Amino acid sequence: MKVLVVGSGGREHALVWKIAQSPMVKKVYCAPGNPGISEVAECVDIDAENIEGLYNFALKKKIDLTVVGPEDVLVAGIVDRFKDKHLNIFGPNKRASVIEGSKVYAKTIMKKYGIPTADFKVFDDLKYAKKHISTCDFPLVIKADGLAKGKGVFVCKTLEEADRHIDDIMKEKIFGYAGERIVIEEFLSGEEVSILAITDGKTIVPLSSVQDHKAVYEGDKGPNTGGMGAYSPVPFVTDDLQSSIEENILVPIVHALKKENRPYKGVIYAGLMITNAGPKVLEFNARFGDPETQVLLMRMKSDLVPLLLSTVKNNIEEVEIEWHDGVSVCVIMASKGYPDKYEKGLPVFGLEAVKSVTNVQVFHAGTAIKDGKVVTNGGRVLGVTILERDLEKAQKNVYEAIKKLSFDGAYYRKDIGTKAINKKNL
Ligand code: AMP
Ligand code: GLY
Repeated sequence: MKVLVVGSGGREHALVWKIAQSPMVKKVYCAPGNPGISEVAECVDIDAENIEGLYNFALKKKIDLTVVGPEDVLVAGIVDRFKDKHLNIFGPNKRASVIEGSKVYAKTIMKKYGIPTADFKVFDDLKYAKKHISTCDFPLVIKADGLAKGKGVFVCKTLEEADRHIDDIMKEKIFGYAGERIVIEEFLSGEEVSILAITDGKTIVPLSSVQDHKAVYEGDKGPNTGGMGAYSPVPFVTDDLQSSIEENILVPIVHALKKENRPYKGVIYAGLMITNAGPKVLEFNARFGDPETQVLLMRMKSDLVPLLLSTVKNNIEEVEIEWHDGVSVCVIMASKGYPDKYEKGLPVFGLEAVKSVTNVQVFHAGTAIKDGKVVTNGGRVLGVTILERDLEKAQKNVYEAIKKLSFDGAYYRKDIGTKAINKKNL
C-alpha cells in the first residue's frame, strides 16, 4: 500500500512513524512533512491546505489511503473532494467535521441529545453578550464559534476580563469570521482528560485515556497552548469511568451526528472535564490530538493501518487494539515566547545523541532545514516521547533524555505527569 499523511507537526510525525511500521505499507508520503518525518517518509512540497494539489498528487501516485492531520483541512472539505474520485481517505467529511468547526453547533447538538456539557448561551450581538455577563457568576468561559488555532477559548475570572475578550472577538474581530458568534458557558472544575475513538459511523473503537497539559507554565498556569505534554494511560480513568464516557458521550455523539444526516467517520476526540457530577464535554475535535497522538501511538502494539482502513471499509467491528504494557509520556520542547511571539531558525542540537536512548522517540513538530542543519520553525519544536514500565520511571527518563537536546531559549514544562504521580501517592 501507498499511504499519504497530510500535515507537518508532531502528530503527523507520530502517524508516519507508526504507519511506516505496518507490514501492509510499502511507501509513506507526507505533505508537507518536516525534517523528522523525512527520515521515515518521502516529504512532498504541497501545503496541507492545498486540497487540489493533494488530490492531484493522490491520483497521480495512486495513493491507497490518505490520512489527514489538521482540522482546518477537514473542515474545508478535503474528504469530500477525495471521495469524488473514490480515493480512500481517513477523516470526517465537511458536514461531519462541523462538530469541531463550530462550537455553537457542537453545543447545540449536545443539548439536543442530552450529552453532558457545561450550561451555555450563544450570542451574535455584542450588546446582548455583555448584558448577559453582567448577570453571571465568575469564572465563566467565552469561546469563539469557529476555528481559531486553539486560541479561541478564554477562561475569565472577572467581569472586566470577560468584557475585554468579548470586545476582542466581536468588535476587534481578532478571529475574523470565526468570532461572529460566541458561546458563553459555565466554568467547570475537575480533572481534564482526552478520550479519542475511531469510528466508521456505526461502531466505535475507543482508544486509551490521555491527559494533555494545555497551559504553558507548570502548575497549569499561564495562557493555553496547543498542548505542552501528555501521558497515557491516565490512572484515575478507571474501567467504569471509561465505559461511562463511551456509553454517555462517544456512542451518543456518533449516533446523534448520523441522525442529523452528518454521518461521522474517522477519529472523534472528546476533550472532557471529570467533574463531581461526572464527565462533561469541553469540546469535540474531528481529528487526532497533538500531543495525544504521540503518546497513544507509542503505546499502541497493534498495526494502526487496519484500524484506519476499517473506517473507510465500514468494518471497524472486526478490529481490536492491543496496547503495550506501561506508560507513555511526551514532553514538548517549545520556543521561548510561545504561545505568543517567538524566534525561528535557531539551530537544534542533540538530535543524533538522543537516538541512542532506549524507548525514546523524538517527534518533530516545528523544525526546518537551514544550510543542511535542523533549526526551529514553530512554537512547539519537538515532542520527546517515551514508553516505560510506569509513570515515575517514564517521567524520570524522559527528562533525562531531554537534557541531550537543546536550542536557544528552549522551554519545557517540568511537571508532565506530576499531578497523576502525586494523586497516586496520596
Ligand atoms: P476547548 O478548546 O473548548 O477544549 O477549551 C480549551 C481549554 O479551555 C480546555 O482544555 C480547558 O482547559 C478550558 N475550558 C474550556 N471550557 C471550559 C469550561 N467550561 N470550564 C473550564 N475550563 C474550560
Ligand atoms: N492537544 C489538544 C488538541 O489537540 O486539541
